Amino acid sequence: MSHAEDHEGSRRDFLYYATAGAGAVLTGAAVWPLINQMNPSADVQALSSIRVDVSGVEVGTQISVKFLGKPVFIRRRTEEEIEMARSVDVADLPDPQDRNANKPGLDASDENRTMDEAGEWLVMMGVCTHLGCVPLGDGAGDFHGWFCPCHGSHYDTAGRIRKGPAPENLPVPVAQFIDETTIQLG
Ligand code: FES
Repeated sequence: MSHAEDHEGSRRDFLYYATAGAGAVLTGAAVWPLINQMNPSADVQALSSIRVDVSGVEVGTQISVKFLGKPVFIRRRTEEEIEMARSVDVADLPDPQDRNANKPGLDASDENRTMDEAGEWLVMMGVCTHLGCVPLGDGAGDFHGWFCPCHGSHYDTAGRIRKGPAPENLPVPVAQFIDETTIQLG
């Protein structure tokens, strides 16, 4: 299969997925341009693992890539976002579990959810834990992180649910830096 065909296939699958809920037009419009930023070299190498070049991701922005048929958000957070996330008492969170596949069983402190010690890099499944819509990012919602318009779930700058019907924090997939500018998912 050529890269072009493969890309077409990914696009169709993604749009089908993104339209699986109310608010789909808004969600699709907001997320689809981000998919285009995926570096071609980060294309699927194997079904269960992909590598993403994050060298072009500026502080305060995010990209969205498709992994195992679902969107994954990779955000490079600002100092302010990190500060907001780290000043929260875990005991006050609706879901105090971290939902991090890399560190199972820990609490949802920001330190446990981020890729690096400084907390600049946050990688999460872009799937609302209520009914599976794709949340809007870039400071959306009452907690300046992500907002799911389907039924009004607000996630904070660490992707933790803070308000609305979603029961759990956005899950963190298996992910690691394999060099300074490449994140491997899976
Ligand atoms: S799917 Fe219902 S709030 Fe996100």
